[in-house]
Amino acid sequence: MTAASGAAGEPAIGPIRPEEIAAVAAIEALSFSLPWTEEMFAQELARPEVSTVLVARVEDRGGEALIVGYICVWVVEDELHINNLAVDPRWRRRRVAHSLLAAALEHGRRRGAERAVLEVRASNVPALRLYGRCGFEPVGLRRRYYSHPVEDAVIMALEGI
Ligand SMILES: CC(C)(COP(=O)(O)OP(=O)(O)OC[C@H]1O[C@@H](n2cnc3c(N)ncnc32)[C@H](O)[C@@H]1OP(=O)(O)O)[C@@H](O)C(=O)NCCC(=O)NCCS
Repeated sequence: MTAASGAAGEPAIGPIRPEEIAAVAAIEALSFSLPWTEEMFAQELARPEVSTVLVARVEDRGGEALIVGYICVWVVEDELHINNLAVDPRWRRRRVAHSLLAAALEHGRRRGAERAVLEVRASNVPALRLYGRCGFEPVGLRRRYYSHPVEDAVIMALEGI
């Protein structure tokens, strides 16, 4: 096993390196209608006291680390806020998001967070199912929160992380 890969082909989860921003932004662009830009991710890296970006890496055939997903979270006081989570479309349904979420919750715990919160588009069934399976519960609705297209956000929370 190397630093780039986990056991038995599992992705290895770890903090993003600056040179990986472009790969993360590429997955973001494939995943969201209003994607964050490379500059926006760079701004997240510039404030490590609040923001953390974790990436999932696998090894390609040449032994190079390949980014297959990422999660961006903030810890503010006792709350872990999950901002962005996406997996390369070619790597979905292989528990990559589940692993990223578990690592982010562990990160929040270590930083003293007691609950995790997030917003998700009301029509985003894969994400709603993922969060539900990980113990998150719907706690509210923000009407017309999203644009492109306009849509409500479901607020989900996990207490006692
Ligand atoms: C949502 C997303 C991150 C899930 O990533 P993933 O790596 O495919 O998810 P996992 O393989 O870890 O799935 C874990 C669980 O989530 C649920 N799930 C994931 N994708 C699903 C889908 N397409 N349909 C139904 N349930 C799904 C399942 O319960 C799954 O468990 P199972 O495979 O044992 O049934 C991915 O589809 C994605 O990047 N979507 C675009 C970006 C996005 O919507 N991000 C979330 C914004 S809040």
